[in-house]
Amino acid sequence: MSTTRNRSILDAVGNTPCVELRHVIPQGCARVFVKLEGLNPTGSYKDRMAKSVIEEAERRGDLKQGMTIVEATGGSTGSSLAFICAIMGYKFLVVSSDAFAEEKLKTMSAFGATVDIVHSPSGKITPDLIPSMRQRATELSQGDDFYYADQFSNPDVLVGYEGLGRELLEQIPEGIDAFCGAVGGAGMIMGVAQVLKNNLPNCDINVLEPASAPALTKGHGGLHSVEGIGIGFLPPLLNGELYDHTLAIEESEGRVMARRLAKEEGILAGTSTGLNVVAAIELARQLGPGKVVATVACDTGLKYVRGDLYTVA
Ligand SMILES: Cc1ncc(COP(=O)(O)O)c(C=O)c1O
Repeated sequence: MSTTRNRSILDAVGNTPCVELRHVIPQGCARVFVKLEGLNPTGSYKDRMAKSVIEEAERRGDLKQGMTIVEATGGSTGSSLAFICAIMGYKFLVVSSDAFAEEKLKTMSAFGATVDIVHSPSGKITPDLIPSMRQRATELSQGDDFYYADQFSNPDVLVGYEGLGRELLEQIPEGIDAFCGAVGGAGMIMGVAQVLKNNLPNCDINVLEPASAPALTKGHGGLHSVEGIGIGFLPPLLNGELYDHTLAIEESEGRVMARRLAKEEGILAGTSTGLNVVAAIELARQLGPGKVVATVACDTGLKYVRGDLYTVA
């Protein structure tokens, strides 16, 4: 029976499917489940945090109609914030870079955002790129008419991802022995970890980073091309009490896995998802049959089809 409730596209955020991987998991491993976050409206899990960041700021009265939201972003958070701002009637000023996928920059413009570009001479995500984007966003957000969303330090981000954790608990009633996720601002893994640790205290939480930018495992950043993660500094939201291990994963392995996920599992996702699944399989190998590992497909690979993810080995 149809409902008479006036549905909003905001209702399309979250409640993503959770699937078990069938073909890329070697014999003798634990089961591996993946949340398909690319099915959120702008194609990434960032829709969850954009919604919570705006809703929480409005609820406190920090954000009012007529104000302009400002953010520094590689483009996933920016696309999500631009989407929410379009629905809720806010202007959005975004600082990004040409180191990130053109699809994301164009998506933000399509939703009506003003995009300010910090040029990356190497075209790579260097350790100073995100800090200089944040510096610019801080400068641009001076004044009472601006609200700096500040995804890297804003705890409102976590509220959105707690929903992802609750969905995992419902969708995997067998229980979850280990969860892993690559970190940028660390919002996703911290929001999910909060819920998993509360409900499954023995669940092993694993934080991932690209091996060539080992800020968490070795204390220094480095060059890489995995969009959204490896930001070059310790994310302020990363809470050491909520995770158990940190793993550095080779970007090349993540890229190979992203291609295998498309060809063998029908999951078209980005490189950070490839890293997540490489790590999930390693955990599944260690845990063995009868156990369960969960991770997320962070975004849709449609964001990367113009780049070299699916074409260069
Ligand atoms: C594609 C992608 N994967 C992973 C991440 C990391 O998510 P978080 O910032 O919640 O750690 C991001 C964040 O921008 C992203 O865009």
